[in-house]
Amino acid sequence: MNSYSKAKGTEIEKTIKEQMQAELSGAGMYFALARSAKEQNMDDAADNFTKLANEHAAQASFYAEFCGRYPFKKEELWQFVKGLSKAEECGEKMILELSEKVKESGFNEAADKIKTFASQHKHHAEVTSELVKKYAPDSVKQNAKKCYVCSICGFEYEGDMESEPENFTCPICGMPKSVFKQK
Ligand SMILES: [Fe+2]
Repeated sequence: MNSYSKAKGTEIEKTIKEQMQAELSGAGMYFALARSAKEQNMDDAADNFTKLANEHAAQASFYAEFCGRYPFKKEELWQFVKGLSKAEECGEKMILELSEKVKESGFNEAADKIKTFASQHKHHAEVTSELVKKYAPDSVKQNAKKCYVCSICGFEYEGDMESEPENFTCPICGMPKSVFKQK
């Protein structure tokens, strides 16, 4: 039995979401500790911190799934990944801009690091796009008549957004329905 969406709309949903945020912060914290340990040549400590970070991230994703944030059924899953691929493309541009701003502020080393994140986003866009080509059913591969773009993260929603409830949020960045613009 899977946990998908079981907590959505129930009393426990808010508590589960709070725990999800806590685990996400925990993941970020352990990854930061891993970087510090690595810089101090404590590779075993870095490996352990990375493992703990991954566990926190996996826990967070379980809670997100439990609250129905991500799709589970085949068609919905690949429709989601298709939109996600667009958000990753958009992410590359956004991160490059961020890198430039950081550079202008005089933080050259951090700017170079952030630039590598932009390349990672590009790679994520390519990987997700290839997976859509390989696995998505034809109904998903064809472009729907209506497409809405999240003006914050670039996630593309295909279909009838009007039919979504007023409390609909972007599955990637969590912003409300109002930030979506028809393409
Ligand atoms: Fe978004």
